[in-house]
Amino acid sequence: MCGIVGVLGSHEVAPIIVEALKRLEYRGYDSAGIATVDRGTLDRRRAVGKLVNLSDLLVHEPLAGKSGIGHTRWATHGAATIGNAHPHRAGRVAVVHNGIIENFRELRAELAEAGIGYETDTDTETVALLTELHLDQGLTAEEAAARTIAKLEGAYALCFLFDGEEDLMVAARKGSPLAIGHGDGEMYVGSDAIALAPLTDRITYLEEGDWAVVTRDGVTVRDARGALANRPEKRIRLDNVQVDKSGHRHFMSKEIAEQPTVLGDLISRYLDGAEAEALAATPDFAKVDRLVLVACGTAFYACHVAKYWIEKLARIPVEIDVASEFRYREPPITAGTVALFVSQSGETADTLAALRYCQGKADHILAVVNVAESSIAREADSALQIHAGVEVGVASTKAFTNQLGVLALLALKAAADRGATPPEELERLRGTLRQMPGILSQALVRDEAIAAIASQLAEATDVLFLGRGPMYPLALEGALKLKEISYIHAEGYASGELKHGPIALVDDKTPVVVLAPRDALFDKTVSNMQEVMARHGKVVLITDRKGAETASDGTWHTLVMPEVDPLFAPISYAVAAQLLAYHTAVAKGTDVDQPRNLAKSVTVE
Ligand code: AGP
Repeated sequence: MCGIVGVLGSHEVAPIIVEALKRLEYRGYDSAGIATVDRGTLDRRRAVGKLVNLSDLLVHEPLAGKSGIGHTRWATHGAATIGNAHPHRAGRVAVVHNGIIENFRELRAELAEAGIGYETDTDTETVALLTELHLDQGLTAEEAAARTIAKLEGAYALCFLFDGEEDLMVAARKGSPLAIGHGDGEMYVGSDAIALAPLTDRITYLEEGDWAVVTRDGVTVRDARGALANRPEKRIRLDNVQVDKSGHRHFMSKEIAEQPTVLGDLISRYLDGAEAEALAATPDFAKVDRLVLVACGTAFYACHVAKYWIEKLARIPVEIDVASEFRYREPPITAGTVALFVSQSGETADTLAALRYCQGKADHILAVVNVAESSIAREADSALQIHAGVEVGVASTKAFTNQLGVLALLALKAAADRGATPPEELERLRGTLRQMPGILSQALVRDEAIAAIASQLAEATDVLFLGRGPMYPLALEGALKLKEISYIHAEGYASGELKHGPIALVDDKTPVVVLAPRDALFDKTVSNMQEVMARHGKVVLITDRKGAETASDGTWHTLVMPEVDPLFAPISYAVAAQLLAYHTAVAKGTDVDQPRNLAKSVTVE
């Protein structure tokens, strides 16, 4: 996901913009650039790779000016080259963009008719060329930008800067979030409040289809129809926006270590504190016939775990699907259906599109998010916050366990609404959740043992993860964690599926990670393990003390996890899967916090 920053400042803006772009690095990127207007003259610098390359360039070729825009690019159209890096410029206009302009080829044809060619592989250049054409036609800067914006189809967050305009930016938002920051005699534009946190906590969020004229005196917002729109200025509490590693080597290890704290905070908010009301205000599940849970990636695996919990405790049929499939298969959404969307960023394009598919069809649309002001939170009928704090590492960790925390609480509430599980059992399970932060702390104590296993796992080229029941989706999540940060091919399977094909992969070079607390299905999983070991497969058994006592013979490694109710074991076993992936990636020397090709939030299809 690209990052956008704009500043109409009272000091030289280049260093301010670079610092703000650093706060957007977590989104993932492969090039960066800045444009400024200095004494009326527009100029720009761009560099491939990390922001340090842009900073170095600015040392050798300084960029003066008190007005500027900056960008971190995650390549969509066109490779990561200087030519494709933003800001894109055409004559008197420079523009930065997050999203995809879906009709850029048609717009190129329109430009060709006017004798205007293009030089890059990007859709964004077309936005600059079109705006320059409008300037040539005698429009003002604002009019030129507005006419361009009206022609765009697809998803975009845009910020324009103009030659000769020291006190003007034009910003627009459709499908990708954009915030306006209010300073003292200064104004800002940013992809999110995190980027602007050191500059201001006074934020105006643009709504879908809005475009804004920004000067140092303030902002004028117009909606998609061109009518003046009054968007509120809010004070955004960003006290938990710790964008430092607090002594950890990586953001990911810091965020793994934060899990006991943030989960404990979450459980107490929902069981005893301010969020109890929000949980109580969710639909009366006695009147709900069906639940649909939709998300992407790790958030989808949280939904998959929740399916086991909700169906077992509340006896409601639960359909799950990845958003990219759900949105196009047009599933029937019948009366009595509640649709639930899980998203850490609240901006994932496929999940947002799936939510919009359900609007007007589902009885209620519920979001579970980590960003209260996000698009998914705002377009849902109601939202439950996971309060995980800012998650910088691209690989989701504390957000996953807090998503599970909220979904577990929701399953208990649904069960209570329907009287489907005895109250004393529900109270016992609430007690388990209250103890979960302590159990996570105990799981973190296994860090060294897991690092030792990871140092050997790092040699593998293929790894299988197995689990049964609610541990099956955790096997999928463990495989995703490993592959997305260590680049080792990994697949998760239901243990019972092994004999239906995957066992053909097993040989003496194949580690098989088995996630199995000693539960009612444990013996069946032991049989699967023995089938693997009979073929010289190398089993890493992650279990509890009782499981280790009965099944560790012949395993390559056995890791003993703290005792926990098997139903909620995915929450604590997630820590083992995260640490296994983390230490394997460290052993392989990959970029743990910003793995290749990945973005923290995928705001484009
Ligand atoms: C997980 O480690 C990945 N970062 C990715 O799968 C992520 O969970 C997915 O893109 C969904 O993101 P969201 O929760 O912000 O919607």
